[in-house]
Amino acid sequence: MTNSLRMRLLWWLLVPLALYVFVTGKSEFDNARHTADLVQDNQLVSSARMIAGEVEWVDGFLRVDVPPAALEVFVSPYRDQVFYSVTVEDGQLLAGTPDFPGSPTAASERPTFYDAGRDGDAVRAVAFVRQMYDNGATRRVLVSVGKTVRSRDAMAQQLWQPQLVRQIEMIVLAVALVCIGLTFELRPLMKVKEDVADRDPMQLAPIRVERLHTELRPIVDAINQCIARLGVQVAAQRRFIADAAHQLRTPLTLLGTQLQFARQHGGIEPGLAEALAAMHRSNRSMVGLTNKLLLLAQAESADYARLASEPADLAAIAKEVAEDLALLAQTREIDLGAELDGPAPVTGHPGLLSALVANLAENAIRYTQAGGHVTVAVRTGGTKVTLVVTDDGPGIAPEARSRVFEPFYRASADTEGTGLGLAIVREIVQAHRGEITLGPGAGGRGVTATVTLAAARNPLPPAA
Ligand SMILES: Nc1ncnc2c1ncn2[C@@H]1O[C@H](COP(=O)(O)OP(=O)(O)O)[C@@H](O)[C@H]1O
Ligand SMILES: [Mg+2]
Repeated sequence: MTNSLRMRLLWWLLVPLALYVFVTGKSEFDNARHTADLVQDNQLVSSARMIAGEVEWVDGFLRVDVPPAALEVFVSPYRDQVFYSVTVEDGQLLAGTPDFPGSPTAASERPTFYDAGRDGDAVRAVAFVRQMYDNGATRRVLVSVGKTVRSRDAMAQQLWQPQLVRQIEMIVLAVALVCIGLTFELRPLMKVKEDVADRDPMQLAPIRVERLHTELRPIVDAINQCIARLGVQVAAQRRFIADAAHQLRTPLTLLGTQLQFARQHGGIEPGLAEALAAMHRSNRSMVGLTNKLLLLAQAESADYARLASEPADLAAIAKEVAEDLALLAQTREIDLGAELDGPAPVTGHPGLLSALVANLAENAIRYTQAGGHVTVAVRTGGTKVTLVVTDDGPGIAPEARSRVFEPFYRASADTEGTGLGLAIVREIVQAHRGEITLGPGAGGRGVTATVTLAAARNPLPPAA
């Protein structure tokens, strides 16, 4: 059997209902037939009695005058044929058809009904005997009246068919109601499906179950429990990465100091000095990597509910970052500008927001050629605060644009980097329920990164 719920319910409904209709239909047909038989038999008997009543002795002979009224009872639009016969016991036919179909031999004074056939037509007939007394002589006269059964069948049909039609209508209605009802009732389930299907892979919030049927609740509850366990697992993994990064920092810092000390120690071979310098560089990039891993883990586990309670001024953060990066911009001969128009209050983690601006600005400075321009702008408008970081560097190829947010993806292997910067940026934006888009820069060159965050509802208190 098919696996569709609709189909299965229909089967459960249709098979018993069809059986029910069949059984009741049959008994209703029998009832209708019985009623029609009764009506017809009454007509036959009254007609036969009328005919029998006309049998009389005339001058010692039996005579009968069949009254027209005796046959008029049968008049119907179905063109039934009516036969009758009145015979004396010695076989003498007083009136009617000589070959009356199948007269019973053992007829009595009580009417006997029977079915017979004539010229291929079914015939229903009645026969009874009337005793005629005269001068001590007794003669038995057999009166039979028969009629084809067309009007009887028509009557049975008329009694039976409307009921059958009503029952079939009921089945059709039930099927339609099941289909419509299921379509409506399955909607909450479809909502759950959409909720689960549209989810961000890392969204581990439970599925909402407000308007779900009691029967479906256990399923959603089980899924939610599974999501919760997954959440615990993911949190543990993030904590592990953060812990590992944190643990790595101390020995790496120590190693950096030791290398510096060794390099400053005079009187070593030039080859060794070069090796030490290379080790120092590797150490620095390893420190950078662990710091970024730590930051990524922090950003991933940042909780919006907690962030939302913290006020921050994005404009002030951007200004600070621009100042911090001024030296880097200068060494790379980049014109770094900041366009900030007044405070831009948002709710969020100041440290993470600072990392967000820093990563975008650093990318712009690092990937833009000497002599290029980088602008960090913060704009407020309505319910939104927008951070725009633009450069006029080489830009990001459209096919790489969706991949640059993946951890460890790097489009330019010739420069130093970890591939974690934009992954961190994305996590921070998501933690703040914001949006980020990457597009071409002004005049079609370079990159414009646009981050939109919700403006804080309560403006920041004015700085003292
Ligand atoms: N402003 C930019 N201009 C050109 N390419 C960029 C820019 N920002 C990011 N990219 C590209 O995106 C890749 C990923 O960036 P990111 O995640 O910050 O890693 P990283 O900077 O460590 O390589 C970079 O390797 C670089 O190729
Ligand atoms: Mg980067």
